[in-house]
Amino acid sequence: MSELLDVRVASVRQLTPLVREFTFEAVSGDLPGFSAGSHVQVHMPGTGRPLCNAYSLLSDPQQRQHYRIAVRLQEQSRGGSRFMHEQVKEGDVLRLSPPANLFAPHSRAGHHLMIAGGIGITPFMAYIAALEQRGGSMELHYAYRSGLTDTYLEELAARLGAALHPYDGRAGQRLDIHQVLSDQPLGTHVYICGPDSLISDVCQTADALGWPAERIHWEAFAAPEPGEPFVAELADGRTLAVPGDYSLLEALEQAGVPVPNLCRGGVCGQCMTPYSAGEVDHRDLYLSDSERADHLMPCVSRGKGGCTVKLAL
Ligand code: FES
Repeated sequence: MSELLDVRVASVRQLTPLVREFTFEAVSGDLPGFSAGSHVQVHMPGTGRPLCNAYSLLSDPQQRQHYRIAVRLQEQSRGGSRFMHEQVKEGDVLRLSPPANLFAPHSRAGHHLMIAGGIGITPFMAYIAALEQRGGSMELHYAYRSGLTDTYLEELAARLGAALHPYDGRAGQRLDIHQVLSDQPLGTHVYICGPDSLISDVCQTADALGWPAERIHWEAFAAPEPGEPFVAELADGRTLAVPGDYSLLEALEQAGVPVPNLCRGGVCGQCMTPYSAGEVDHRDLYLSDSERADHLMPCVSRGKGGCTVKLAL
């Protein structure tokens, strides 16, 4: 994995009761550049375990002096979002992975249709800055709950004007996906970021309407969900007990077995690992059914019912 970056927390802002924003600056030298749609992994020290979550960079990619992220407190937090909300304060030094991009706006799109649910607004903040700079055609459909997940709404209204379509779930306003997708000029690319249900609804509707797959882009960074404890057996015969609140990837890292990874959320394919035995609860959005017969994604997937999963690692 690339060398980690030391950053200082320059500011912390509570945007809503559920969302905190963090601005990072370099401890020394310059921060590496990034493009719209990039994310970083934040390594969380002092938690007594390897804990590291991926967050989209929401700052303007042209502004190289700082990185900005926003973190939603998850009710089912395994510790990552709670750590960010309760432990991190101005002046702290954290380690980040260098930015990586799995969700860039398409360079040849005639129109950019962005659909965000709640904290899924974050990558689009960087998109909007980049598209404004190059005069890109865009519109944003933003579903949120007022007072809880309506982050950056005023700023978006000022920047986008009529190109912003807000939907406040608390006021009963609903995004009509079919209508939005039906009403687009040729050459439009759609980008979705938010809960899995929103992503699958948009993807299924776009598919039913005949949108080519290469014009549909989505990002679902979900921290792994807890599950049952199980055992992983390595190729050298070592066994690792994986607790219910650890991902297999975290257990491997703690045992000093490095596995390449980018998203830590089951979407990028980097951590694909072969296995030869054990019943696996596949939770990724990457592998096909046939690939799942002998490969798993340790960032999210786990053994079922306390079984032993034999890894070819
Ligand atoms: S790290 Fe991306 S799928 Fe596991």
